Amino acid sequence: MQRVENEIARLISECDYDEVTRLFEMLSGGKRLRAKLILKIAPEHEKAPLLAAIVELIHAASLLHDDVIDEALTRRGVPSVNATDGSKTAVMLGDILYSKAFTELVSFDEEIARAIASSVTALSKGEMMDVKMAEEFNSDEAKYLDMLYLKTATLIEAAAIASALLVGKDAHTYGIYGKNLGLSFQIIDDILDITSDATTLGKPAMNDFVEGKCTLPYIYLYDVLADSDKERLINAHAKTIDKSEELWIKEEMTKHKCVEKSFKLAQELSNEAMNAVKDDTALVEILQTMIKRSY
Ligand code: FPP
Ligand code: MG
Repeated sequence: MQRVENEIARLISECDYDEVTRLFEMLSGGKRLRAKLILKIAPEHEKAPLLAAIVELIHAASLLHDDVIDEALTRRGVPSVNATDGSKTAVMLGDILYSKAFTELVSFDEEIARAIASSVTALSKGEMMDVKMAEEFNSDEAKYLDMLYLKTATLIEAAAIASALLVGKDAHTYGIYGKNLGLSFQIIDDILDITSDATTLGKPAMNDFVEGKCTLPYIYLYDVLADSDKERLINAHAKTIDKSEELWIKEEMTKHKCVEKSFKLAQELSNEAMNAVKDDTALVEILQTMIKRSY
């Protein structure tokens, strides 16, 4: 991973603008899940750290833009760039990071470059769907999972496909792994938004619903509530939630096992990912660490 950090630092310094270096240093690196995945799939390849750095820059750019779109004041426990330096700066820093990533991508074979580049179109579509869907209460599970796939899983899937292509492994198999890992990862993230506190999350708890996002536990809850309670839930949607409503939602979710049901789906997806790469202990370990995050 040190080689990835070195590559990231090199790409940032090549942007040749001290303001970019200053702002980038303020970002917390995060879990670097995508980079770790690339290194585990293509450990020996000399260009794997560069590919990992490219994907991490794209991911960082997408989060910078996402925080502007969501008007989020914190990211990974520290103030977001839009909070400290304003939305214009956050958008422009995102533009610099992802165009620099694309510039570096041209040094890879076309199939690899295409896999990564097309996933950015997909994740941008996913983000747009997410914003559209947050305008109204959504109770459609399939629609929600389609959006999640685009918004979160496609870049992880593309990272897996691209690194497999780099070392001549079967891209389809690794793609299945990446897609299901990505979906499972995001569902666990959605669960943690409900079950964790603000200090652990580095952002306010139960914030998804306040932002209008009806994640799986909310969809499952809606499904089982009586009509009058369905209305109560819809009324709480996309607003600052008061303590009594927050408590009611949590109690109903506990009663109807909505978090457990969501976790079960995350586990099934994770098993599907595991089955695709059964013999690859390093990749199985990534899945296990991720599932453990939810405890
Ligand atoms: C986080 O979702 C957002 C994403 C995973 C993708 C965002 C994508 C874009 C803004 C498209 C633009 C892409 C580039 C490369 C500039 P979330 O809001 O559900 O999660 P959060 O709680 O971490 O904010
Ligand atoms: Mg967000």
